[in-house]
Amino acid sequence: CMVRHYKFNVVLKNTTRLCSTKPIVTVNGRYPGPTLVAREDDTILVKVVNHVKYNLSIHCTYIPLHGIRQIRTGWADGPAYITQCPIQPGQNYVYNFTLTGQRGTLWYHAHILWLRATVHGAIVILPKRDVPYPFPKPHKEEIVVLGEWWKSDVEAVINEALKSGLAPNVSDAHTINGHPGPVPGCPSKGYTLPVIPGKAYMLRIINAALNEELFFKIAGHQLTVVEVDATYVKPFKTDTIVIAPGQTTNVLVTTHRGGGKYMVAASTFMDAPVAVDNVTATATLHYSGSLTSAATTLTSTPPKNATSVATNFISSLRSLNSKQYPANVPLKIDHSLLFTVGLGVNPCPTCVNGSRVVASINNVTFVMPKISLLQAHFFNISGVFTSDFPGNPLAPFNYTSTQVTNFATKQGTRLYRLAYNDTVQLVLQDTGMITPENHPLHLHGFNFFEVGRGLGNFNPKEDPKKFNLVDPVERNTIGVPSGGWTAIRFRADNPGVWFMHCHLEVHTTWGLKMAFVVDNGKGPNESLLPPPSDFPKC
Ligand code: C2O
Repeated sequence: CMVRHYKFNVVLKNTTRLCSTKPIVTVNGRYPGPTLVAREDDTILVKVVNHVKYNLSIHCTYIPLHGIRQIRTGWADGPAYITQCPIQPGQNYVYNFTLTGQRGTLWYHAHILWLRATVHGAIVILPKRDVPYPFPKPHKEEIVVLGEWWKSDVEAVINEALKSGLAPNVSDAHTINGHPGPVPGCPSKGYTLPVIPGKAYMLRIINAALNEELFFKIAGHQLTVVEVDATYVKPFKTDTIVIAPGQTTNVLVTTHRGGGKYMVAASTFMDAPVAVDNVTATATLHYSGSLTSAATTLTSTPPKNATSVATNFISSLRSLNSKQYPANVPLKIDHSLLFTVGLGVNPCPTCVNGSRVVASINNVTFVMPKISLLQAHFFNISGVFTSDFPGNPLAPFNYTSTQVTNFATKQGTRLYRLAYNDTVQLVLQDTGMITPENHPLHLHGFNFFEVGRGLGNFNPKEDPKKFNLVDPVERNTIGVPSGGWTAIRFRADNPGVWFMHCHLEVHTTWGLKMAFVVDNGKGPNESLLPPPSDFPKC
């Protein structure tokens, strides 16, 4: 294995999209950012230098590595005030970590405020040398990063919403590798993916959008799904994939013998009556020999509330579970938890309606600490967090959609404590406090298995009988269905503090987040390593 060095200069760059120009925060001046490429077992050193002094809300930056397990190196995980403090303007920090037992597509993104709208990029982890993919080697691989674009300053959008207590404006367009494609009022060119006839391509698709789950489709071509969140799945064919913010999906596409220009499209999936961005992003799958102009074979994505398309896709996902890549689902459970996820309303005397929208897990709206939780944990600094996160909802209510009388949530920086190697079953139950919504929940530090899912209220007596403990999909981000639940299992074999949050950035901002603290084990390789010397202090 190798040591690979990368340098990420975080800089402002004037960028034009939707026929208007604004400065955006970028890695090395690029949107999306550069791709990190490495092999399983390699060590990566990413030196992040913050050159940005944009305004007070964008004075710090972080580059979390979404989905990298960071075994014993939580210091390189990255979420603001969870594992580290800001890299101040003019300062730098080297994220130093080894890729252990993972191969596939992951990504990195800023993890403070809404900076990840423009600060993100792909991480490609190739299998070890001489280890083939468990599917035929594609002719070529391509990165497809899906995103969202606001014409206005994204930080201003969220700051305005926090002041008013209301929901923020939705984005003005979706993007495919940084480009919306032609939209009404702005006939700009979209991204072009050049291909040759009769070959297999692997697309490494990443949903880097802030707030939108997406459908993704290519006119006239089937997609064979082979991997999600850097774990192999049993291959299956589909027209449309569904991908939530935070998730990655690798698909194989075999090109036709002929030629042509086929539309690639991405649009919102949201089966709740909330405001979303209704603009479809388009790109072109462009066969060699065809004239360079827009796609001529068009397609349309499913309507935004096409729940059945999403459900079919999600229920087709199974771990590969081969001899070489077994699904090690925990069978004996030490902690059986039920977390409700949803929105609430808390008093806010200075807000427009005297109240503000909040979000919570088990009725607790997470309050960000002033120094990082990992620091507080490692150095035994008291008064930063408590270890009493409730294992069950604090307030009973109907989880589906009946209105409740009290929307208010409790506030706290509460963590759930696990001993090293404990096993957890966690049921994530959407609530209909204001409205049911799908929430993509992301857990740092671990992959988990999705053993079950359903609509309505989780039934602790009946539903576990139907759990798939053989080949459930393994991932790091899971969509909790609107008005339904999902059950995940994981083993706490990684000491440290691990954030769990909704990957819809608006919900994270509103407090839909918590963290697990995993104590050291007794064995020689079971404790958190000390922080590196350049670790940013609070
Ligand atoms: Cu991709 Cu905590 O995030």
